Amino acid sequence: MSKQITITIDGAAAVGKSTLAELLSEELHYLYLDTGVMYRAATWGALDQHIEITDEVSVSELTERLPLIITPPTQNDGRQCTVLVGEQDITWEIRSAMVEKYVSLVSSYPRVRAALTEQQRTMAQHGAIIMAGRDIGTVVLPKADLKIFMVASAEKRAERRYDELIAKGKTVNYDEILAAIQERDRQDTEKPISPLVPAKDAVLIDTDQLNIEEVLAEMCDLVDKLVEAG
Ligand code: DC
Repeated sequence: MSKQITITIDGAAAVGKSTLAELLSEELHYLYLDTGVMYRAATWGALDQHIEITDEVSVSELTERLPLIITPPTQNDGRQCTVLVGEQDITWEIRSAMVEKYVSLVSSYPRVRAALTEQQRTMAQHGAIIMAGRDIGTVVLPKADLKIFMVASAEKRAERRYDELIAKGKTVNYDEILAAIQERDRQDTEKPISPLVPAKDAVLIDTDQLNIEEVLAEMCDLVDKLVEAG
């Protein structure tokens, strides 16, 4: 069996991390963990328990004791993973507008980040994993074998999100999508802890001029070189 490595993929909202991480995980038969779902689950938990989202201590305490379990998909309904809190399946609930509205605030709380970072490190300890997020290469797994940082202009990301939603038959407005992406970029990069920055030794992949297959090929190439080098 070839050497099993740890791969991190970081980047801004809607840059295509999930799509690429999932494809790469299928290619390599690795586990894929999207850490964004963990911040979303903590936010969902606080809302579900009617905890004031601005009450940092209560939200942090809840996150520390949240019985969060993430598994490969248990249903064939388009999900990339199954997210459970206890026995409750919250895979789709964490995509709600309410979670979307508050997740950035929750993810700015240091104790929330510390609790989830610890769980993420535990999940990565056996290698053969692709972990995607914002701070995986810089904070969570700074010693990962391969760190990828994906970039694309806000306009390009908005264009792709727009096409995706139109293809699903939704009525959407390009300018609103672009404004939402720019606002999330601002929140992610101005966060005082774990702001969105590439690790010093990350490989930057600019996807503005590349399609999915080309990005995947570039990632596979990077993995091959590393594995061959032993
Ligand atoms: O990638 P996403 O949209 O599912 O992320 C949800 C939120 O969690 C977003 O506000 C960024 C934050 N996040 C984070 O702070 N650190 C991570 N490693 C992953 C996500």
